[in-house]
Amino acid sequence: MSIEHCVIIGGSSGIGLATAKRLLSPTMKVTITGRSEDKLNNAWKSLGGTVGKAAFDATKPDAVRHFFDGLGPFDHLVLAASGGRGLGPFATLDLADIGSGVDEKIKPQLGCLQAALPTLNKAGSVTFISAVSAQIAAPGIAGIGAINGMLLTVVPILAVELKPLRVNVVAPGVIDTPWWDFLSGEEQQAVFAEYAGKTPVGRIGRAEDVADAIAFLVSNGFMTGQVLTCDGGLRFAA
Ligand SMILES: NC(=O)c1ccc[n+]([C@@H]2O[C@H](COP(=O)([O-])OP(=O)(O)OC[C@H]3O[C@@H](n4cnc5c(N)ncnc54)[C@H](OP(=O)(O)O)[C@@H]3O)[C@@H](O)[C@H]2O)c1
Repeated sequence: MSIEHCVIIGGSSGIGLATAKRLLSPTMKVTITGRSEDKLNNAWKSLGGTVGKAAFDATKPDAVRHFFDGLGPFDHLVLAASGGRGLGPFATLDLADIGSGVDEKIKPQLGCLQAALPTLNKAGSVTFISAVSAQIAAPGIAGIGAINGMLLTVVPILAVELKPLRVNVVAPGVIDTPWWDFLSGEEQQAVFAEYAGKTPVGRIGRAEDVADAIAFLVSNGFMTGQVLTCDGGLRFAA
């Protein structure tokens, strides 16, 4: 029985943590990362203490290099580190937020992949996480859509350039995770209810929905260069 190893950058919460739960099995070892030691330890405990863990900031190239240098060979990389900048009406959007969003989400995801390349199994996979904001024409998401759109653009290019390594991206819709904690409980409920109403399946997403989509891309050896939208149909209805 061969055992594979998946590293999840941003695996201590939300979609990354649900993906760790989904993938962990007798044939899949998992390592999760995140910045907060506390969050990481809680996630590690929730996974039964059976996964690897490492606390570092993926926006810091030296920390990223140090992590991958110490890790050794592995098979799959899931890039779930988040950013949250760029939301709001275009007329008043602070354009500096677009740069910050790139620094907080796009550069860490790309930087982790670069640092991982020497030790990442070429028969394995990389899964980025973008967002449906890059695929829909809805008011108030020009900034965050532009940021997430970069991942949709680079994935097919990297699938060809890094072959046979498989490179894919999941574009989640509105998912109930701590990503939304910048809103008060009441505001969150209102936003979730609004999106549930707009979403064809009649609800917003759960982290587990997206974890299933990621697990499919990790495990299906014939999938590369693909954008897998996991949004309950929001893309067609927003
Ligand atoms: N939730 C949604 O509705 C939604 C929709 C579309 C796309 N997405 C995308 O899905 C991905 C996962 O988000 P989520 O909803 O699961 O959010 P989340 O629950 O906030 O999880 C984010 C994870 O990334 C880690 N992280 C954040 N910045 C990091 C950094 N600089 N270095 C290392 N780890 C970092 C967090 O831990 P620490 O904070 O401890 O570092 C946490 O483990 C993100 O890329 C997000 O943009 C989410």
